This record gives sequence, structure tokens and C-alpha cells, in this order.
Amino acid sequence: MIPGSPAPIGIFDSGLGGLSVWRQIVRQLPEESTVYFADRAHVPYGGRQPQEIRSYCVGICTALTEAGCKVIVVACNTASAVALHHLRERFPESLILGLEPAVKPAVAITRSGVVGVMATPATFQGRLYRATVGRHAASVQVVEQVCLGLADLVEAGAIAGARTDALLLSFLEPMLTAGADTIVLGCTHYPFVIEAIRRLVGPDVAVIDPAPAVARHLASLLHHYAMQAPPGSACHRFFTSGAAAHFDRDAQLLLALETASISIPWQRQGGEDGELTPPRLHSPPRSF
Ligand code: DGL
Repeated sequence: MIPGSPAPIGIFDSGLGGLSVWRQIVRQLPEESTVYFADRAHVPYGGRQPQEIRSYCVGICTALTEAGCKVIVVACNTASAVALHHLRERFPESLILGLEPAVKPAVAITRSGVVGVMATPATFQGRLYRATVGRHAASVQVVEQVCLGLADLVEAGAIAGARTDALLLSFLEPMLTAGADTIVLGCTHYPFVIEAIRRLVGPDVAVIDPAPAVARHLASLLHHYAMQAPPGSACHRFFTSGAAAHFDRDAQLLLALETASISIPWQRQGGEDGELTPPRLHSPPRSF
């Protein structure tokens, strides 16, 4: 960690979902450079075993620290739920920020006393989520809604249309029937369908996207450690373990963003069952 550092902020997710966090970081911290890694070779993380998710996260954090990132944002609720604690132990020198479902702000605003949380199975099973609910939600009823397939739909760019509405309704109805007046988006892919969710639940139900609060928290951390970037040097690089052309096409579709991403496939040492070696992100900086 270099004080007053121009070094980039590393941000990663299983896929494109973390771009909902990236977007807020760039909006709130326009002087900061970023390195974004989408592990699209392994998306979705949500149904995978914790051990597997942790090993991907360790590989990605190794790559981001080697690329000189001053802070790492785990822009994925699933990876945070399963691996955040482990990553902080494994990279004690690094500042690592994770995401937890925004249960606390939801509890503060609910009038019905029922809060719905949309997330992946792995997020609900992780100890971070359990601890968050235990700490903040004792006074309310929390309805947990596993949203199987929703992250995949966003990855496929299907953020509007009858099929998306039908899937969303199947997730929203149990929460609304239970009386939820506040719904937490507990996966970074879901803000890309927030407009559809708002339309389906109507104006009396609040829908919380945690990304703006994460960017605010990051801003206060950078301020606290005097690590803000000097003005005028922001540059944004994008890497994917999948196909670069697909990443660029899908980022354009979701955010109208020109990414010129670079594909860095995972390598296995010693054949098919060998250990995954971290991707290496050394490459010329690109700006958009
Ligand atoms: N974007 C990820 C999250 O916030 C998960 C999607 C997935 O890979 O299952 O949980």
C-alpha cells in the first residue's frame, strides 16, 4: 500500500455482475484507475463448492496483487460469503473489501417488518451472511430467496423480456406473499435487472442495490489510508478468463461500455487434475 497512490483498484467477480460495483466506483471515484477481472471460465460461482470458489479467489487475488493493486474489491457476494475471511488471512498485506447483503439498511427502512433477500445458494450458506443476519435482523423476518439461473440470464444479456420477467416473478412472489416491503439484491448481477424488479414489485416495495454504499465505503478507506490517486491519470483495464470478444460485447450491452478486454485463460499445472495457476495480468494499460 503506497500512500497517495496512483496504483489501481482491483475488482473481481465470477463474471459481469461486478461491473455493477465497478460502475459505482468509477462514478464516485473518477480519479481512480481500476483493473477488473471476470472469471467467466467458472461463472456461475453460486452453485459451486466453497473450496473450489476459494481456490479461484486466491488465484485472482494473487494476480491482482502482482498487478500492483492497492485495494481489492471482491465485487461478488458469493465469493465474499465463501472466501473473504480466507483471502484476508492469505493476503495479510492487502486491503480487501467484500460485499455482504445489505440487510442492515433494509432493516432500518422496512415498515412491514419483513425483508426479502435475493442471492445465490452459496451466499446463503456462507458464514458472512449468517453473521450479518444474526447481527442486524433479529427484529424482523427475513425471507431468503435463492435465485437459481438469474446470474446466468444476466451473463447472457437477457435483462429484459418475457422470459426474464417470468423468472423474476417466480422469485419475487414468495417474498411479496410473505409481506416483504423491502428487497435486498444480494448478488452483484441483480442490479442489471433492477428496473424490471421495480416494475414488477411496484412503488411500495423498496429495492436495495448495495453498490453505491460499497463505493462510498471504498472512498472512505482510501481517504483514511491517504491512498487516493492523483488527478488526471485514471485508466481502466478489463481481463476475462473467457473470450475477450464476448466480454466486450456483453459489457457494451449491459453498460454501453467500450472495454477492449484481454483474455487470460487459467492454466493447469500437471494435466487435467493439476493445480490451477493464477492468471497473470501484466500487459499494457488500456483506457476507454
Ligand atoms: N455476482 C455473484 C454474486 O454477487 C454471483 C453470481 C454467480 O457467479 O453465481 O453473488
